[in-house]
This record gives sequence, structure tokens and C-alpha cells, in this order.
Amino acid sequence: MNDKFRLGVLGSGKGSNFVAIADAVAAGKIPAEVAVVLSDVESAGILARARDRKTSAQFVPPGKFRTKLDEEAEGAFVSALREAQVDLIVLAGFMRVLKGDFLGAFEGRIVNIHPSLLPSFPGLEAWKQALDHGVKVTGCTVHFVDAGVDCGPIIGQQTVPVLDTDTPESLHQRIHTAEHQLYPKCVAAIARGEISVAGRRVIWKKQV
Ligand code: GRF
Repeated sequence: MNDKFRLGVLGSGKGSNFVAIADAVAAGKIPAEVAVVLSDVESAGILARARDRKTSAQFVPPGKFRTKLDEEAEGAFVSALREAQVDLIVLAGFMRVLKGDFLGAFEGRIVNIHPSLLPSFPGLEAWKQALDHGVKVTGCTVHFVDAGVDCGPIIGQQTVPVLDTDTPESLHQRIHTAEHQLYPKCVAAIARGEISVAGRRVIWKKQV
């Protein structure tokens, strides 16, 4: 039996959000441990960053599709997460849409971070969509994952100003910095059991 709250982190890219969460765990700010890091990209920075920290890290081949996992791959991800006995799955730049069987296996226990204030600008390059649209404020959103894309119940949001001098890169960088603050706070609240969900509304027992 494991008594610590166990996180399974999935990512396809650099892994800076994984690092922010792992740092918060190490600093005692999240009462949890990172049980496993999984990636669909063998060369992903997130796997190297996990291994640097002596965290179990595994490449799981994603199968034949580009934007989702095929059946065999989905089974392999689910098995690895079950084996690691995870309580919460943290998507940190995982670039594939999760489907029915995966969602059913971990219902209400999957969270994601998206680089805009949802429901504005779901989908790819949300920072660029925000800049092109001309909004003056954007940000990031942590939400539960449901069958839609970037549309489950919202756990937390952090705003970021859009400056007249911004390029897509500078705005993305500022959003990333906000993500590294917001994601650990949301994961900590879930690990502490301080969050409940009523329909689309996520209620924090203690506001931070
Ligand atoms: C973040 O911008 C996140 O919002 C999006 O993917 C990116 C992951 O970045 N879902 P990193 O791999 O954590 O650095």
C-alpha cells in the first residue's frame, strides 16, 4: 500500500511544467510524489529531466495515429499508470487527445494545463491565437480532462498581460512562467483533497 498521493506525468515536450511540479514536490509544497513520467516521444526533454531527478521515466510508443493513441498504445499507457498506482494524471504538454477507454480508466483524475484563458483559444498555439485576436489579457488554465478538447471543468486560471511589443515567443514565455506558478498550486490543492467538483464548477475549500 502506498500512503503518499501519487502523480503520473505525461508530456511530449521540454518538460518545464514537470520540473515546476517536481520542484514543488521536493520543496514539500505538494504532498505527493511523482510516481512515473511517460512520453509518446522518445527524445522528449521531459524524459531526460525526469531521469536527471531519478524519477521513473518511460517512452511508450504511441502507435499509428498522429494526434491520438492507437488501441495498443492506449492499453500500454493505462497499464504503466496502473502499475505505478497513480492517483492523479498530470498532462504537461502531452500532445495527443485522450479517448474513451483511457478517460474511463481514470475518470475525474486527469488534469491538463492550457496556455490561454479557456474557453478562449482552445487548440494549438493558443498564445498566437490570443495575440492575433488582439486581446489585452490572456493567461493559462488548469482543467480536468473530459472527452472534449481543452474543455473540462476549470480548476484554476492565471492572467498574463499582452503587451504592444509582444511577439508570439515573448508572450508564450510569459505564459509559461505563469504556468509554472499555477500548475503546482492546483496539483497541491487536489493532493490535499481541497477541491470538489459540482457540474462544471470546481470549488476550492481554501482559496490560495
Ligand atoms: C505548455 O505551454 C502547456 O500549456 C501546453 O504544453 C506546454 C508544455 O510545456 N499544454 P513544457 O513541456 O511543460 O515546457
